[in-house]
Amino acid sequence: TALPLEVAPRQQSWDELADAARGCVACSELAATRTHVVPGEAPRAARLLLVGEAPGAQEDETGRPFVGKAGQLLDGLLTEAGLDRGSVAVANVLKCRPPRNRKPRRPEVAACRPWLARQIELVDPLLVVTLGGTAAEWVVGPGARIATLRETDVVLDGRRVLCTYHPSAAIRFGPAGAPLAALRADLQRAAVLLEELA
Ligand code: URA
Repeated sequence: TALPLEVAPRQQSWDELADAARGCVACSELAATRTHVVPGEAPRAARLLLVGEAPGAQEDETGRPFVGKAGQLLDGLLTEAGLDRGSVAVANVLKCRPPRNRKPRRPEVAACRPWLARQIELVDPLLVVTLGGTAAEWVVGPGARIATLRETDVVLDGRRVLCTYHPSAAIRFGPAGAPLAALRADLQRAAVLLEELA
């Protein structure tokens, strides 16, 4: 059921990879309905890579990751943690928006997987932070529970990974909800961990 890219991406820079991804049609459905591919953004020498699920409406519109409501919440929490969004790399499991923001389907995640895999190699961050279940499952496989994973030391190819809630969950559960408190605390933990790993 997977629709893998015929050739794993081998681009040598983030920008070249992003350009290649903009022409991707490996999963035909999302390629047909997207407005823009949203490869993600990475400043040079980013030590932290944030991984979300998929572009939403505003991201599809602009071609940029996390610029809608969830992104605005994320920006504020990053600033609070002393992590400037401008120094952080951001990418999603899927580079194209699923219609009406439905959950990514397994073949879509499989088809898109080589892009994020290569992005992780190219950024070579000290720490990866996954936001939400789709990104956590991309790292640890199906059945991931964030409440458990956020208490777990997760490692991907020798790299530290911190799994936390998606900012959309924080919005959904509201300002007094557990996901917001956990996400805020986890981004602060990420900042501390980055100092330790540096
Ligand atoms: N949600 C995501 O997971 N990623 C985005 O880029 C925007 C919203």
